[in-house]
Amino acid sequence: MVAKKPRIVIVGAGMAGITAANRLYTCSTFKDTFELCVVEGGTRIGGRINTSEFCGDRIEMGATWIHGIGGSPVYKIAQDIHSLDSEQPWECMDGPDEPSTVSEGGFELSPSVVDSISTLFKNLMDYAQGKLLPSSDSTEELDFCKLAAKASKICTSNGGVGGKLSVGSFVRQGLEAYWDSVRDEEEIQGCGKWSRKLLEEAIFSIHENTQRTYTSAGDLSTLDFDAESEYRMFPGEEITIAKGYLTVVESLASVLPHGLIQLGRKVSRIEWQPEGHQSMENGYTHRPVKLHFCDGSVMSADHVIVTVSLGVLKAGIGQDSGMFNPPLPPFKTEAISRLGYGVVNKLFLQLSSSHDGRDADIDKKFPFLQMAFHRPDSDLRHKKIPWWMRRTASICPIYKNSRVLLSWFAGEEALELESLSDEEVISGVSDTLSSFFPQPYKQMKYSNSLPLSNGSVNSVGSLEGSGFKFTKILKSKWGSDPLFLGSYSYVAVGSSGDDLDTLAEPLPKLGNLESADSPPLQILFAGEATHRTHYSTTHGAYFSGIREANRLLHHYNCVGVN
Ligand SMILES: Cc1cc2nc3c(=O)[nH]c(=O)nc-3n(C[C@H](O)[C@H](O)[C@H](O)COP(=O)(O)OP(=O)(O)OC[C@H]3O[C@@H](n4cnc5c(N)ncnc54)[C@H](O)[C@@H]3O)c2cc1C
Ligand SMILES: *[C@@H]1O[C@H](CO)[C@@H](O)[C@H](O)[C@H]1NC(C)=O
Ligand SMILES: *[C@@H]1O[C@H](CO)[C@@H](O)[C@H](O)[C@H]1NC(C)=O
Repeated sequence: MVAKKPRIVIVGAGMAGITAANRLYTCSTFKDTFELCVVEGGTRIGGRINTSEFCGDRIEMGATWIHGIGGSPVYKIAQDIHSLDSEQPWECMDGPDEPSTVSEGGFELSPSVVDSISTLFKNLMDYAQGKLLPSSDSTEELDFCKLAAKASKICTSNGGVGGKLSVGSFVRQGLEAYWDSVRDEEEIQGCGKWSRKLLEEAIFSIHENTQRTYTSAGDLSTLDFDAESEYRMFPGEEITIAKGYLTVVESLASVLPHGLIQLGRKVSRIEWQPEGHQSMENGYTHRPVKLHFCDGSVMSADHVIVTVSLGVLKAGIGQDSGMFNPPLPPFKTEAISRLGYGVVNKLFLQLSSSHDGRDADIDKKFPFLQMAFHRPDSDLRHKKIPWWMRRTASICPIYKNSRVLLSWFAGEEALELESLSDEEVISGVSDTLSSFFPQPYKQMKYSNSLPLSNGSVNSVGSLEGSGFKFTKILKSKWGSDPLFLGSYSYVAVGSSGDDLDTLAEPLPKLGNLESADSPPLQILFAGEATHRTHYSTTHGAYFSGIREANRLLHHYNCVGVN
């Protein structure tokens, strides 16, 4: 009797799934070792990589940046396939302009005020991420370390959620410690109804809001402080991919034979055999895993690599879902429940080419606008600004002189954005901008040295009487799409890096007595959320795909082939 080739089914055609397929296929094909297929619930490959087009420009609805080019496998592929250059302009092709920071009500804040708070925030995050080491030659840094150490000590003794320190409470304590340390300095005047302290807090919030979009923690008080220092970034600049992020995934998929990736194949249930014996019933060898699809079809497999998002796993272990039968063991479901997974969305808006019917060349460049909002409890809040805009850090053209603007949203605001109509979004953004560029034009400049000077001319000032009109918008919908149910994972307060490792463990669990006779490596887990130090990224997903492919290659002694 001819032995059947082991069948490996990969669930999901995102970066992790396609990478695993690429590795398994290229490392074993000449030996013809496996039967391999990728089943994808959606109608396209790429998953959370979703390169699209808006108003003639190539844009990214999902993954956007190569986070550090030094040592990034994504960078290497993009370079090899010549995806880093394009004739056409692309999203973030040029480094960002100097931001114009404007407060609600329309005061443009001078860089000297903004920079000291921006540096404070950056230092606090560097400290949290373990990047800031006290150096003897820099007294400034040394002072800062004391400040940060004090902040983390205060936080620890106060306790965060469940007695553990969050990034949110750490940075806020850092701000308080900063205020304490500068209290003796001469009181500097605020502007309008803004006091100096309120302005500084509003600038600080811009950075907190940016950090929410980086981490996908809807609120930084849910982001674990200790885990922050385990996260690794590649060195070097951060860049976008000129020909689109999708070209990287397409390149990995291009070696796979036609038909190996099956689209429109949504898995509804995975049956597996955690305990032995079943595999020998009727006296012949069964494939131990059974995949049930939404269309009612069934496929058997020896090994399944599950790459669905942490959000889909969280929903899948819920009472009424039962994605796994029997359910995943408690050590697995507990890690899945504890880890954080949030929503981040991108909003693209097209500025109408000539607002107020004026000549197009009068239209001035839209700045890299950072928005300093009033506190939630302030009476000075402009009533017309909708709540879902109030934690938006910035609005910025996608490249110099582009008429397409981009904003990032996180948390509840990102989820709300998905449910709004295009008209509601346009009027909410327009109302917000009219508060930052008030009419008639009365912009004031706030700086450290000069008390107040009205009507200073600058890039923001040139947008006088703007009344911005938008013709069209495009927004991502990662939170409500059932194939993603969110954007990326983070280590929530109450979880740790160990949970990310736990997520990566294959089933049945090794050395478990009950599963001693059960076929090994039935369910393997890859995907962004299974990488301890590079979670939340495309390269984390890539590494996880390599890892699980290698696990199977080792198991079948196919190593050293490459
Ligand atoms: C808005 C946004 C911005 C981002 N920005 C960046 C960035 O700048 N840089 C960066 O490195 N990363 C970024 N990321 C994160 C990055 O996109 C992800 O970490 C990475 O793409 C995840 O890949 P994956 O293979 O783990 O998961 P996915 O891409 O989610 O792949 C899983 C696949 O499984 C499929 N699937 C789900 N359920 C089923 C089912 N039941 N049956 C069959 N198939 C199913 C899905 O359709 C999907 O294709 C961003 C993500 C978002 C959403
Ligand atoms: C700025 O303008 C406001 C009203 O337009 C006026 O009350 C105020 O005195 C002006 N401030 C300066 C410094 O000119
Ligand atoms: C992916 O991009 C398309 C536009 O090309 C968009 O319609 C779709 O909603 C995007 N997916 C998500 C989950 O945002």
